[in-house]
Amino acid sequence: MKILSSKRRDFMRNAGLAAAAAFTPGMTFSQKADAVEEELEKRLQLAQASGGMGAAAQSAEILAPPAMPAKPTIEDFLRLRFYYAPGGGIKQNSHMLQSANLALEADYPENVVVACALHDSGMYIRRSDHGHWGSELLEGYVDEEIVWAIKYHQSLRFFADPDYNYTYPEMYVRMFGEDYVPDEYQRQHAEYAKKHKWYPTARFITLNDLYAWDKDARIDFEPIIELVMRNFKTPKEGLGFDNSHNAHFWRSLIWPNRRV
Ligand SMILES: [Fe+2]
Ligand SMILES: [Fe+2]
Repeated sequence: MKILSSKRRDFMRNAGLAAAAAFTPGMTFSQKADAVEEELEKRLQLAQASGGMGAAAQSAEILAPPAMPAKPTIEDFLRLRFYYAPGGGIKQNSHMLQSANLALEADYPENVVVACALHDSGMYIRRSDHGHWGSELLEGYVDEEIVWAIKYHQSLRFFADPDYNYTYPEMYVRMFGEDYVPDEYQRQHAEYAKKHKWYPTARFITLNDLYAWDKDARIDFEPIIELVMRNFKTPKEGLGFDNSHNAHFWRSLIWPNRRV
């Protein structure tokens, strides 16, 4: 089993504490867990951008991300949204890139690497229930099994499975206490997922999720981007403009702040 380095543990602990300071009464367990994940992602971004842009410029760019081409492909979304580094270029310590790279290095099947490379894309639509948002975003564009696995990784991350060497995240014990009980819907979804034929794919996402928070990571992103492109059906009109039932998800990523 992998052991977290003390540097990475400190990074995760500090992000957890910062997120906990902003918890509000009534937040559910999974909302808190998502807030911690979001804080980690924000800190990865800042770690990569530090020394480059000032804080004000960074926040401005997060609010108004770079313009997309008229017919955007999945490559454009990877480069300009999911893996985008404030100031330009690829965020090489991106959590999704790190998890895909772990899967690639551990020789997981191609569909698992692609699932890891996109597993938190739903967060760019909405933070809570990000697995469900991600699956709706990707439906029709990647293999059904990948869509399904991304949906259920959200609930499975709260439940250990010794058969797969997946332990309940240490950070959750620290943040929420020893006897915290995940929401009932998460438990039901995890139970359903465990009996499904595609369970291993969703479980593999959670396995590669846990260790993908190294702020110093510099991932060789080209092979991962290529893999995603190879497994993705980009429409000729461009994502967001093919009149699919979920085209509006992609348009919301193109223009996150548009009022029309
Ligand atoms: Fe996730
Ligand atoms: Fe994740």
